[in-house]
This record gives sequence, structure tokens and C-alpha cells, in this order.
Amino acid sequence: MRGRPVRESDREKRGVITVMDFLSRRWLLLIIGWAGFLFVAGITTLLTFIDFYKPKVLFGPAMRFKAGYPEEYPLGEVSGRWMAEQRVWLVRQKEGLYAFLAVCRHLGCTTRWIPEEQLFKCPCHGSNYNLEGDVVGGPAPRPLWRVGVSLSPDGQIVVDKSVKEDRIGVREKGKFILPV
Ligand code: FES
Repeated sequence: MRGRPVRESDREKRGVITVMDFLSRRWLLLIIGWAGFLFVAGITTLLTFIDFYKPKVLFGPAMRFKAGYPEEYPLGEVSGRWMAEQRVWLVRQKEGLYAFLAVCRHLGCTTRWIPEEQLFKCPCHGSNYNLEGDVVGGPAPRPLWRVGVSLSPDGQIVVDKSVKEDRIGVREKGKFILPV
């Protein structure tokens, strides 16, 4: 049995008050819209605030690192032991031990050591460097960078990539060759 529709006067009589009695539909939509907007704005502000205080430092590999003991590098060998981690070649020759950055001086690709040819070769545009890091072919305008090498008090080799030999003529000795 269908009930009789509740009329305004009946509701008032019964004391039933709904939200819609106070607010029109338009007002309700306006309030919901503003609440949504303020919620999104608040969340965005909060996330921006949190992000602002997060450290932005990039923790890359250190510029100075210990590369082990000289006796771990046999005479005449080019070692790629630190290539993956530090992008450095270590070379031991009669004159001493030295280190190259494996960065091609043309456009910065990573060079590869080809033992059969005794050359560092760049796969990008074909620059070739000899054991001294000198350019012997290809478009590279400068030799490979040698980087600082020294011995730490505990006898380990310290490679310092922040000290670079950027030469055109004769190789510097001193900090770029370890007489071991
Ligand atoms: S980047 Fe090495 S030859 Fe071009």
C-alpha cells in the first residue's frame, strides 16, 4: 500500500528537518566543489613542502678512491677492475703505474681496451688511443685524461679523478705516475 507523500506542512509538524531544508542544491554543489579543490590544493602543498626538504644531493661514486695494492697490477697489464664502478683504466708499465679516465675526448663515450691491438678504442666514432693515451686515429682532438695517483699510508693506490692531466705535449710525471 503506497503511503501518502509527506507534505511540507506534515514535516514541519513532525519536526523532520533535512539538509536540503537549509541548502539549495546549487549551494550544496558549490560547497562540494570547493571542498574538493581545497583538498587537492592542500595535498599538493603538503607534497611540495615534503619534497622541498628532501635532500637533492646525488650520491655518485667518489672522485678519490683506493684501488688496492700495486702488486695486484701485473707489469704490462691494463686493468679494467675499476671500469664499472669508476670508469677508470689502470695501467702498469716499466715507468710506473698510471690511471686513465675511460672517457673519449671526442664526445665522451666510454673507451674499450683491445689487448690484441694494444689500443683503447672508442665504439662511437672510432677514436683510437695508444697505451700512453695519445690519439692514434679517429676524430678525438686530445689524449685521454690521466688522473692523479698516489700511495696512501697503508700502501694502497689512491686514484684521484678530480686531478686531471690535460696536456698537449710531454706527459707530466709526479702526481700522474706512481713509480712502483
Ligand atoms: S665519442 Fe669517441 S670517437 Fe666520438
